[in-house]
Order: sequence, then structure tokens, then C-alpha cells
Amino acid sequence: MKLGTVFIALAAATFSVTALAQAPIVIKFSHVVAADTPKGKASEFFAKKAAELTKGKAKVEVYANSALYKDKEEMEALQLGAVQMLAPSLAKFGPLGVKEFEAFDFPYIFDDTADLHKVTQGPIGAALLAKLEPKGIKGLAFWDNGFKSFSANTPIKAPADLKGKKLRIQSSKVLEEQIRSIGGLPQVMAFSEVYQALQTGVVDGTENPISNLYTQKMHEVQKHLTLTNHGYLGYAVIVNKKFWDGLPADVRGSLEQAMKEATVYANKIAQEENDSALEGVKKSGKTTVYVPTKEERLAFKKAMAAVHVKMADRVGKDLLQSIYKETGFDPTAL
Ligand code: LMR
Repeated sequence: MKLGTVFIALAAATFSVTALAQAPIVIKFSHVVAADTPKGKASEFFAKKAAELTKGKAKVEVYANSALYKDKEEMEALQLGAVQMLAPSLAKFGPLGVKEFEAFDFPYIFDDTADLHKVTQGPIGAALLAKLEPKGIKGLAFWDNGFKSFSANTPIKAPADLKGKKLRIQSSKVLEEQIRSIGGLPQVMAFSEVYQALQTGVVDGTENPISNLYTQKMHEVQKHLTLTNHGYLGYAVIVNKKFWDGLPADVRGSLEQAMKEATVYANKIAQEENDSALEGVKKSGKTTVYVPTKEERLAFKKAMAAVHVKMADRVGKDLLQSIYKETGFDPTAL
């Protein structure tokens, strides 16, 4: 080999080693909702902050709208390391075997976001996230969405109006029981399939925060929406633990800071996003929005109270009691 050729080969090798050293660590962040939702916006915010704080050492790629994986698959993909970060709704941890997360699915357990934050931002929330570690998952934060409301093609003013209706829910045993408590037929289905199922009549109705309903255009195929606000839907931001623990300490530290800031942002915009989605639904004129009276709301609460007794063992009585203690909710008083 001529000296010139050796020199060129050496220079090329040095260049590729340098390029390799500078290639950013890619973090694939997959989720199932639209980009213009609380979770969609917060994940984009995190991606930006991560690039900024790590000075380009980490690159977060956000995949919205189930572009990479549907509900169940994304959890498996995270455990296998095919994707590094997710923010599944809390209802989706039951099938993983961490049933305690279904505590968030109990109807009316949180009156408002202040109640919720006592749990997610306190020791109960931290203990719940720690339960993910044996599954190879590290929990980084809780992100809010909001309270769910029922929609259908017929008016909903009383629990009896949902009797015999096929209602799509997430894969949670507590949610199944909640639907049964009002005489409905629970239908577990991936989020990405709900619009079509509603459109074709495979299911009659569903429950979701308005931001999800609106951004998936479900209101275009549901004539009635009643603001029942009967249960909470929010997220845990999670990462593949092995991947996370293997990150250089400075990068991980910066990502932790980015997550802190993204969490503040997520929880700040969640209510605003749901409010503007509700405006959008109203403006569309496709769905009649009904606000239940105090008495009607109480009737839903009473009908669903039995879920707290029936499903207590699923999540653990002690955990439920510790949440009641924080929020002041008392199902036996209904
Ligand atoms: C659902 O499946 O209804 C929700 O979990 C979707 C989401 O992630 O908000």
C-alpha cells in the first residue's frame, strides 16, 4: 500500500471514530395520542429541552398517534428496548402485572387535580413508580391529562342511559367493573382503533378526556357527550431501565432536568388543552354537550360506588385507604 493511501485510510478511520463519538444518543419516545394533546405537546417540549440541556448529546425522537406501536405493543417494545421512552396512561400498567396503578381508575376517587397531585406528587406516587423497576422499567414522572366523560349516540343523563351499551375502555379490570356498575358492556380496545369502532357501530360509546375525544375526531361519530368527569386519565413517563442506567451520568442528569421542566409544562397545559378541546367540540356542532345537574352527577357517583368495594382487593385495600386519606373521598358515605 502506498503511503498516500495509508494516510487517507487513517484519516477516514479517525473521522468516523470522531463522528461516532459525536453521534447523539437517540431516545425513541412513542405514544398513542395526537401531537396536539397534553401528552403530545409535553413530549415535544421534553425533546426540545433534552437537546438543549444535553447540548445535542441526546436526541429525542417523538412518534405520536401510535405511529410505532399500539397500546399493548408499546409496553412490550419498551421492555425489549426497541423503544426507550413511553408515557402510557396509568390504566395500562395493570396488564403488565402492576395492578396497583388501577387505583387511578376508581370512579370519582379524585375530585379535582389538586386531589390528584397529593397522590402523584407525594410518597404514594413515588412508591408506585418504584414498583415498575422489577419489570425493567424506570418511572420518571406523572403527567396529567384530565377527567373522563362519557359519549354515545344517544343522550346520557342517568346511569340507566348507558345500560346495555357497548362502551370502549382501556385494558383495566377496574374500568371493566365501572362499566358493569352502570349496566354497560365493557369493550377493551386499543386507542388507535376507537374512532373506527365508533364510526362502524362496533361500540356504542366511550370515555376519555375531551382532548383525546376531540383530537381523534371521535366527536364527529358521537352525537352526545355528557361532562360526567367520572374518572381520571393521566400518564406515567417511563424508560427502559437498563438503557437509562447505562447513560453517561452527565447526559442522564440533563435529561432528568429536562423531564422536570417538561412535567411542569405538561401539568400546566393539561387543563387548558382540555378546555380548548371542549370549545372545539362545541363549535363543531356535531355533538350535543350536556352538563349534568348536581343530582344527576350524584346518581352516577352512587351507581359507581360499589366498584370501590368490589375492586379494592385488586389494587390493595391499604393503597386505596391511603389515597382516600389524601383526597378525603369516602365511597361508604354515598
Ligand atoms: C386511551 O387508551 O384511551 C388512552 O390511554 C389514550 C392516551 O394515551 O391518552
